[in-house]
Amino acid sequence: MCGIVGYIGKRDATPILLEGLHRVEYRGYDSAGIAITRPGGLQVLKCQGRVRDLENMLPKRFKGAPGIAHTRWATHGEPSDHNAHPHCDAANRIAVVHNGIIENAAALRARLMSEGITLRSETDTEVLAHLIAAVPAETLADAVRQVLRIVTGTYALAVLDAERPEAIVVARNGGPVVIGIGDREMFVASDPAALVAHTRSVVHLDDGEIAVVRADGYETSTLDGGPTAKTPSVIDWTSGSFDKGGYSHYMRKEIVEQPEAVRRTLRGRIEPRFQTAHLGGIELTAGELLDIRRIKVLGCGSAYIAGCVGAHLIEQLARIPAHAEAASEFRYRNPVIERDTLYIAVSQSGETFETLAAVQEIKRKGGRVLGIINVVGSTIGRECGRGIYVHAGPEIAVVSTKTFTCTSIAFALLAVHLGRIRDLSTADGRRLTRALAAVPEQIEEIMGREDEIARLAEMLLGCEHAYFIGRSAGYCVAMEGALKLKEVSYLHAEAYPASELKHGPLALITPQTPTIVVIPRDDLFSKNVSTIEEIRARRGPVIAVTHPGELPVKVEAAFTVPQSEPELDPILLNIPLQLFAYHVALRKGCDIDKPRHLAKSVTVE
Ligand code: AGP
Repeated sequence: MCGIVGYIGKRDATPILLEGLHRVEYRGYDSAGIAITRPGGLQVLKCQGRVRDLENMLPKRFKGAPGIAHTRWATHGEPSDHNAHPHCDAANRIAVVHNGIIENAAALRARLMSEGITLRSETDTEVLAHLIAAVPAETLADAVRQVLRIVTGTYALAVLDAERPEAIVVARNGGPVVIGIGDREMFVASDPAALVAHTRSVVHLDDGEIAVVRADGYETSTLDGGPTAKTPSVIDWTSGSFDKGGYSHYMRKEIVEQPEAVRRTLRGRIEPRFQTAHLGGIELTAGELLDIRRIKVLGCGSAYIAGCVGAHLIEQLARIPAHAEAASEFRYRNPVIERDTLYIAVSQSGETFETLAAVQEIKRKGGRVLGIINVVGSTIGRECGRGIYVHAGPEIAVVSTKTFTCTSIAFALLAVHLGRIRDLSTADGRRLTRALAAVPEQIEEIMGREDEIARLAEMLLGCEHAYFIGRSAGYCVAMEGALKLKEVSYLHAEAYPASELKHGPLALITPQTPTIVVIPRDDLFSKNVSTIEEIRARRGPVIAVTHPGELPVKVEAAFTVPQSEPELDPILLNIPLQLFAYHVALRKGCDIDKPRHLAKSVTVE
């Protein structure tokens, strides 16, 4: 979950590496470091803290190339100067930056210590530097290969050798590695965001691959040394799309961008002739889709919750039993994979380890899986080989917002597509595709009343706990609302199905514990009104997120969103909860784009 960057070429590596680190800092931000090659050896600087802290302590003469750099999300050894990467061998000849977990590090550390090696950190990664320095090898790549054969675990790795500065060696097993192809210079990174300012031509390493990267090119091979072929692809986005664009936070920028992002998700996918959705990327014929008897959606965090919204849409519109499950749980229960079940993997980054492993498990057992992914060219996208790219654009803030909305829209398109192959009528197809086309403007209408939401956010200042409740798909909105508030404002927020409240959680209702109730004007409206009555009877404050019209019950505050078709209402009801979380965090002075202890893409188990 760390970010690695590397550069080899004629230019001074330092500014290129620092700029790249800023771009991947959302992958982990508890410490940072850099190593560059100069005549006479390596220069290494690292510290606990942010990339800007590293930048502030860099001496002017810290120049040279090639170089590698790292921004960390601690797994082994707390955030500190000595646990920051790069890690080097005793002679400071080899420098290593690593994203992942070396599972047999304890044994390797013990072996090194028994051989008299002094370890300078508590990390798993440091063993790699000592081992690579110690093995007799013709080339750096050979040395790295030999060491990786005795290592178990996951890694995205970049290695420098002061005595062999003509190449950077990178390797991948679980963590993403991208090679950027420049003009007589090359770049390596965990994420294209770190190199898009210099090139848009990239190749992605696959698991089990190693690459020797020189200024004039690269070679890829397997750990056994067999050459592999790569086809460069072009990154969709320009460097500008990764900028904050004058917004105070990426989170707010990405919330405000949603109308445009949704238009991209919908572009070319509404098929008015047949009142359905056209999804070229799923590569399943109507016949194959008709054979589907069940749908299982897998993802983690917000991707899992978007999957819950998706499962509701598919069951309502296509009448196929659909269920979402946390990918991390799915894999370990030795799941029964069925031929007539379609599995859908959901991921913004396309790199989340548990979701990737679930996809590989399904494929290993012969199951059919498609992806609903944001990052084009990402590992899960390539592993699925078919699916829907949501085109939400780069999402930098750790908390996912526009991708949640665009993923829900993609699910609505898929549900209409599946439904129109079955019993969903032309009239329903028209009703839903028209409503989908109206969503961007409806989101703009909500954005126009942000001040109202900011005032609601004031109500939570001073609270330690908050509950989010809803029924049916409204419960999914409650889950997402609670997750956003937790992630970005550190306020303890729990989501419950509204009907579950009286089976226990009602005991927690107090005048200091507000409840956010998702109460659309649908056939469950009166049930939700009764639940509000139950909360108010215990003097619990209620904030209602609902549709225009009088509420037949008194609440502390209410925010209304435009009404869409009932099946699509959850998508709009969620928007104010994103802004709500943002404004609570803003008033609490939280680090909104980089919440503590989190990272944007979780590439370790
Ligand atoms: C959501 O705000 C979080 N960043 C997190 O829960 C995220 O949704 C989860 O880690 C899954 O990430 P993915 O969509 O990139 O797979």
